[in-house]
Amino acid sequence: MRKSKRLDQIPPYLFVKIEEKKAELQKQGIDIIDFGIGDPDLETPSHVFKKMHEVLETKDSSNYPSTKGELSFRKAVADWYKKRFNVDLDPVNEVCSLIGSKEGLSHLFFAYVDPGDMTLVPDPSYPVYGIGTLLAGGTSYYLPLKKENNFLPDLDNIPKDILKKSKLLFINYPNNPTSAVADRSFFEKAVKFCKENNLLLVSDLAYSEMGYDGYKPMSVLEIPGAKDIAIEFHSLSKTYNMTGWRIGMAVGNKEAVQALATIKSNVDSGVFKAIQFAAIEALTASQETVSKNNKVFEERRNILFEGLLSLGFNFPKPKATFYMWVPVPTGETSASFAQKLLEKCGILVVPGNGYGAEGEGYVRFAITIPKARIEEAIVRMKKEL
Ligand SMILES: Cc1ncc(COP(=O)(O)O)c(C=O)c1O
Repeated sequence: MRKSKRLDQIPPYLFVKIEEKKAELQKQGIDIIDFGIGDPDLETPSHVFKKMHEVLETKDSSNYPSTKGELSFRKAVADWYKKRFNVDLDPVNEVCSLIGSKEGLSHLFFAYVDPGDMTLVPDPSYPVYGIGTLLAGGTSYYLPLKKENNFLPDLDNIPKDILKKSKLLFINYPNNPTSAVADRSFFEKAVKFCKENNLLLVSDLAYSEMGYDGYKPMSVLEIPGAKDIAIEFHSLSKTYNMTGWRIGMAVGNKEAVQALATIKSNVDSGVFKAIQFAAIEALTASQETVSKNNKVFEERRNILFEGLLSLGFNFPKPKATFYMWVPVPTGETSASFAQKLLEKCGILVVPGNGYGAEGEGYVRFAITIPKARIEEAIVRMKKEL
């Protein structure tokens, strides 16, 4: 059997390798403190579960859903955007349901990228932007996210010939993996830049509800005229601790949302209707659990941040996301330090270079474990490093 050449180009998905390593060590009886994947350990709100049960009992959800989502789900998304960001969306044309934002992002390439086309992708970044480009036969031009630029891309120095070939610009603030945030002026600049260069601006807003110390992230669609050139991806995964439910949304530019929906209608058949009804409950009911969750993550962030500072690490305190992007000690690489943490301390972190070459010199901690485990990790590091 002959596999595609495409398959040879893509590395195994980052977390597949990490999960394998973790399982191997656990088999040896090692107690691993896992700061690896960003999968919230907190519970899906109980009222969402309750709604799901109710729906299963009372509403027939067994048939194929529509690719774009139930109109009631799309309306709930539009209402949520209005309430949260004061952004107006037409639920019919400017909203599409997704089987999680990863699914939507990865299918977008098939609507926009032909062989030979380029995409502008931050480095480091969520791996799907680069790999999705490859799968569609395109190549990415990587925009370094450097500490001295507050982990924002430098849009002014992209070579003209690259810009000519590029179709998409990806931005993701609050950012995975650096936890950086962007202010209004950056979003304004990105919108202007995409208009001038005929690019679709792809905003990945997965972490918009995870701001700390009173910080509230914004949507790029708040910028006047953004809808002319921007599509935004969001999901219920991180906001409502619903990663396994697989539900998200693409919103914004009508043409882009419809182009994505056309691809999707040929490869998937939408989201299980009962999940959409439960998602409506999450989006429309009281958002109290969101702020409660953030308090939990804020406390964990404080504990890990203070602990790492006391160990001599030096980096800015994250304002958002549940990640910490930590520079490795002098003389270490991302891989050597991640290995040291794992083997000496039983602590699993993600080597920063897994998110791109510019991630070399960093490791990423996800604070998706209880505070007692974070405290235990600090104790172990103080003892062993
Ligand atoms: C930046 C970013 N975008 C998108 C996703 C995908 O989330 P989901 O497919 O669960 O909506 C993640 C998940 O970790 C992420 O970190």
